[in-house]
Amino acid sequence: MKTQTQHQLLLNLAVIATLCLCFSACTSEQASEELVQTLQEETTVVEPEEPAVPLPGLPEDVAGYTQWLKLNAEPIPPVPGGDPHNGDKNVYVNKTRETIAPNGEQQFPYPNGSIVVKEAYRPGKDYVGLIAIMRKKAGVNPDHNDWEFIEYTRNASDADFAIIAKDGVCWGCHAQVEDIDYVFTELE
Ligand code: HEC
Repeated sequence: MKTQTQHQLLLNLAVIATLCLCFSACTSEQASEELVQTLQEETTVVEPEEPAVPLPGLPEDVAGYTQWLKLNAEPIPPVPGGDPHNGDKNVYVNKTRETIAPNGEQQFPYPNGSIVVKEAYRPGKDYVGLIAIMRKKAGVNPDHNDWEFIEYTRNASDADFAIIAKDGVCWGCHAQVEDIDYVFTELE
């Protein structure tokens, strides 16, 4: 009889011990989960935005241009019989749709400080091989609506862009669209 009670007591103790262990394990697991969650939340808050980096060889002010407003809806295909900016092209501007097209209709001229960037994927290539830029700077060239023109090219996806031409070379063609502020591509 006595041994049976002792046996029972031991059994009870064992059960209690197991419960305790289980409980502490569970709570500490919960605690560490909470800790991980808090750390994750803190990391999300503290982590800075990825800064936009310009393609190699291009100036800082066109970094992240692909996030800007795109004027064309579909890529502009190469012009048959000779394309001054050969390739499939997209044209971006550092202004909002509301700024350049209040009430849905595009207004000209472009405001001072506008930057228009054209990228071209050369035929058969999967990287940007040409970047043409127009920058509107008050007073810089009143004869051409104060646009500065410059163009860069490269021949490999890991190569730096280098200046190939600017201003005078560009005016002749772009003057054809002087009435819409020298920019061929209109907002679609
Ligand atoms: C032979 C004519 C010609 C010359 C020269 C020329 N362009 Fe263009 N450019 C165009 C045409 C046409 C477009 C319209 C989009 C397209 O079809 O490529 C254009 C588009 C652009 C665009 C996009 C905005 C827009 O007008 O649609 C930029 C930026 C640009 N050119 C910059 C330059 C620069 C910089 C130079 C000089 C280094 C230059 N262009 C020389 C004909 C020319």
